Amino acid sequence: MKTPIDPTIVKQEIDKMGLASVGLASIRELNRIVNNIETAANEAYIRMEMGVPGLNPPKIAVDGEIDALKKGVGSKYPPFDGIPELKDEISRFVKQFIDVDINPESCFPTVGSMQGCYMAMMCTTRRIKGQNKILFLDPGFPVNKRQASVIGVPFDNFDVYEYRGEKLKIKLESYLEKGDVASLMYSNPNNPAWICFTDRELAIIGELANKYNCIVMEDLAYFGMDFRKDYSVPGQAPFIPSVAKYTDNYILLISSSKSFSLAGQRIGMTAIPDKLFNSKGNGLEPYFGSDNFGYAYIFGAMYALSSGVSHSSQYGLSALLKAVNNGTYNFVESVKEYGERAKIMKTLFTGNGFLIVYDMDDTQKIGDGFYFTLSYPGFTGVELVEELLYYGISAISLTTTGSDRHEGLRACVSLTGPDRFGQLEDRLKAFALDHPKDSDFKVIHS
Ligand SMILES: Cc1ncc(COP(=O)(O)O)c(C=O)c1O
Repeated sequence: MKTPIDPTIVKQEIDKMGLASVGLASIRELNRIVNNIETAANEAYIRMEMGVPGLNPPKIAVDGEIDALKKGVGSKYPPFDGIPELKDEISRFVKQFIDVDINPESCFPTVGSMQGCYMAMMCTTRRIKGQNKILFLDPGFPVNKRQASVIGVPFDNFDVYEYRGEKLKIKLESYLEKGDVASLMYSNPNNPAWICFTDRELAIIGELANKYNCIVMEDLAYFGMDFRKDYSVPGQAPFIPSVAKYTDNYILLISSSKSFSLAGQRIGMTAIPDKLFNSKGNGLEPYFGSDNFGYAYIFGAMYALSSGVSHSSQYGLSALLKAVNNGTYNFVESVKEYGERAKIMKTLFTGNGFLIVYDMDDTQKIGDGFYFTLSYPGFTGVELVEELLYYGISAISLTTTGSDRHEGLRACVSLTGPDRFGQLEDRLKAFALDHPKDSDFKVIHS
């Protein structure tokens, strides 16, 4: 059967990679296969597998970095915990947009928020003897579990979709009451489902973190990108919902990759409340040389991992944050485009027989943002990933994200501009035609 991409080439490139299952490939593996098919078939895919920003980096950040490089910072080691002006701006940033007070001392840059997640896992799971487990509130970013495995930390997980609102409390407590959970992690907005916890749910998480003395690793990789509310005005409500309002047992992990389109610079931010930063833990010393949490973080974990963050990118981010905090650069406005794309792309998919898997946010309809989730009747997510490759569309299966919804895919909107919508529609129409809903749904190609 003829498909938008020559099926012989698709099959040949899939086989060449020698994977047990394309649908279970990691994001980077799938990315490689699609690159190879694109080259062999000389066709461009609708690339939705990888969450990379599709917008240019802000000029203020670029100029800030260039100026710093010209001044010669490249030859000097940066402080492990960041240059003072950046620490100040991160502290101001969390005040302006989340409305929490965190001392600049415990606000610092990391090599992407990825490194921030890694450090948070290292330090929280060794903080208190006997409490070494991570609980992932899934679906989630698959590589976070890889990080836990790399450092040999045990973890549990559950899919939150069926446990929204008050139901979250009982479910969460069923894990925490065992007493071995050191920390829990979720992203908000959620990668991949774009779920956003409500204030009531964040309050539940915060209260339980207090009760069981565990740390909430709140991954704000899509900071301010729930476009249903306008979080763009510094110092003014509405503020970005955060567990920080309900407990002191938290670590904020903020990425500059998506909200600021700075993924290539590998600079993120960590903010730890003063009380936790200055606290002690009886499990820390053997690993980090100190029983003080903040000291262990900076002079143990950060020293051992990368000894700080590229000096020039700290100046770039610092210049950008200053403009954002002063209200002269509206970062939300700059990335709203993703929400507009999602709205249209979702319509194109649902108009051709696809369904949105995570469609509700507790009692509200899910927002339009960087990701959405999809299914097609009769297909598992793993089958759908592979079948869509023949139609020039790439996405990842939700199975890799800890989701219970094995029929689903995650689609990222960032690389599909309006100029590709027509082609996306044609490909989806071809898919729908080849997979009519009233027949028994067979995977045709794989
Ligand atoms: C949930 C989540 N956390 C962390 C990251 C990593 O961010 P960074 O590029 O700042 O390392 C991402 C990037 O896709 C993400 O989706």
